[in-house]
Amino acid sequence: MAFASTFDAVHVRAPGKINLYLGVGGRHDDGYHALATVFQAVSLYEDVIVRHADDFSITVSGIDDLSTVPLDDRNLAMRAAKMLAAAVGYQGGVAIEVHKSVPVAGGMGGGSADAAAALVACDALWGTGVPAARMHELAARLGADVPFALHGGTAVGTGRGDQLNPALARGRFDWVLVTSDEGLSTPAVYGRLDALRAEGEALADDPPMSLDVPVGVLHALRSADPARLAEVLDNDLQEAAFFERPDLAQTIRAGVDAGALQGIVSGSGPTVALLCADPESAARVRDALEASGHDAMHVHGAVHGARIIS
Ligand code: C5P
Repeated sequence: MAFASTFDAVHVRAPGKINLYLGVGGRHDDGYHALATVFQAVSLYEDVIVRHADDFSITVSGIDDLSTVPLDDRNLAMRAAKMLAAAVGYQGGVAIEVHKSVPVAGGMGGGSADAAAALVACDALWGTGVPAARMHELAARLGADVPFALHGGTAVGTGRGDQLNPALARGRFDWVLVTSDEGLSTPAVYGRLDALRAEGEALADDPPMSLDVPVGVLHALRSADPARLAEVLDNDLQEAAFFERPDLAQTIRAGVDAGALQGIVSGSGPTVALLCADPESAARVRDALEASGHDAMHVHGAVHGARIIS
């Protein structure tokens, strides 16, 4: 098929996310769990630049330790480009450049942001004009968090986290993120939750196969009041993440002692997200945590999803 390509290179930026609510239900036969979650895209971005090439290749740069980022077909951006090419019958390849700012294996969907950015970038580079609904479908096949990285903002995710509905969130929320040198494996954390539940330590009843986000969370988002949102932050994966990394509980306590309203593990961790009252308070919390040896940064949400920069 011939496509109308008008660009030599396309640069797309996609955000990392935090889950400000994450309810985990039972496990389906394919290993995925029923979820009800609220994603918020935050101002920490992945930059993906694509150029025409005969074959598919990828380079990754940015944050300190990139040794665990695969540069072959296991890389989600590479898979996204190949999936789009196959879906539309594009015959050429692409040279992908990923500049990372979102921690690797940090529970912030950095790899998913790369995949969403690669889909949008290749679609523009190749002039394939794939409709939004089809992009969403391809994104969902790549991973449960990829559709959200396409859309951004604040959204409720159900099913496996890939069925998205926008959430009405007003105002700006200031977060301090505390990152870790070493990532946590998402499947390992879900597996730990299953094990804790099997031992009867985490839930008395069988976990449900269909869940909703509590209305209190949606009301808090609508109120634009961080103090209200702080009261309803929750993450069912947190106990499992603490099991793997007991120091994360201390990090949350240190953040709250430094003035944060509340903190949670983001997704499967190990990144900790501390919600603060305003930008000034967040700057103080970040400085206090930095002074005690943590890697902390101040971001805000909600921000837009994957977008063409140039
Ligand atoms: O879809 P994604 O590749 O991001 O998921 C990574 C892993 O996280 C899955 O292989 C699975 O172990 C776990 N997961 C899950 N239930 C979900 C989403 C992810 O168990 N709804």
